[in-house]
Amino acid sequence: MADIILKTENLGISFGGLKAVSEVNLEIKKKQLYGLVGPNGAGKTTIFNILTGVYKPTTGKVFLDGEDITGKTQMVINHKGIARTFQNIRLFNNMTVIRNVLVGLHDQPEFKCSMLASMLRLPKHFKVEKAMRARAKEILRVVGLEEERNFLSCNLPYGKQRKLEIARALATNPKLLLLDEPAAGMNPHETDELMTIVRRIRDEFDMTVLLIEHDMKFVSGLCDEVTVLNFGTVLAQGTAEQALNDPEVIRAYIGG
Ligand SMILES: Nc1ncnc2c1ncn2[C@@H]1O[C@H](COP(=O)(O)OP(=O)(O)OP(=O)(O)O)[C@@H](O)[C@H]1O
Ligand SMILES: [Mg+2]
Repeated sequence: MADIILKTENLGISFGGLKAVSEVNLEIKKKQLYGLVGPNGAGKTTIFNILTGVYKPTTGKVFLDGEDITGKTQMVINHKGIARTFQNIRLFNNMTVIRNVLVGLHDQPEFKCSMLASMLRLPKHFKVEKAMRARAKEILRVVGLEEERNFLSCNLPYGKQRKLEIARALATNPKLLLLDEPAAGMNPHETDELMTIVRRIRDEFDMTVLLIEHDMKFVSGLCDEVTVLNFGTVLAQGTAEQALNDPEVIRAYIGG
């Protein structure tokens, strides 16, 4: 179907004897905000690792915008349009905020400039530089970090570092953005701001977002649809309201 951006069929992976993920079927529509939840160790991050090419699945397939991307490398998958943030922040600490975003933009075809043009400082070089800075500023505006653009990223408070991680992922111009616990460690005010930012990313960049989160207020306030995992398998799927109120889901959380 044309409006499905990501589809997984019977996705599974085993590590040694352990089935970390098994028979996971996801169908995410364009511009959806989709939640992936479940207790610790349920297999959420492992699914992100499969979708982004860190791991090859043992079973099943992944389709991005109708194209089979199963088992492709991280770089190929990123170029095809999936970008992610990590559960533990990974930034270039001794770079400024804007530099962190510019690094991601450098690989984009629209900002390619020949080495010779750069070395000789030809007009093309300055034009590309200017366009890249404008794009980086635009991304920083959307995540609410425009004013901090010249700060060193290590000097940002934790909540803002998380937002910078999102900006850096957006710099690779994805079709699908994966956020691994974006609200972790944020206070309630920052979490509210983050909800607004994720909606703005969807609206202004026509983005689809798949996010993992333990904060259920965040998930139910933001996500159109939710999949609940437990021990690597799908426990419930549907609207946040349906999925999170499913008796089996409540039992899994209390049990965990
Ligand atoms: N490379 C690996 N080798 C062996 N086991 C792994 C590997 N990666 C993940 N696992 C196991 O797979 C299971 C799922 O882990 P995963 O990190 O996906 O959980 P999660 O749902 O993201 O949990 P959390 O909410 O704590 O982040 C765990 O039992 C974990 O130990
Ligand atoms: Mg995880």
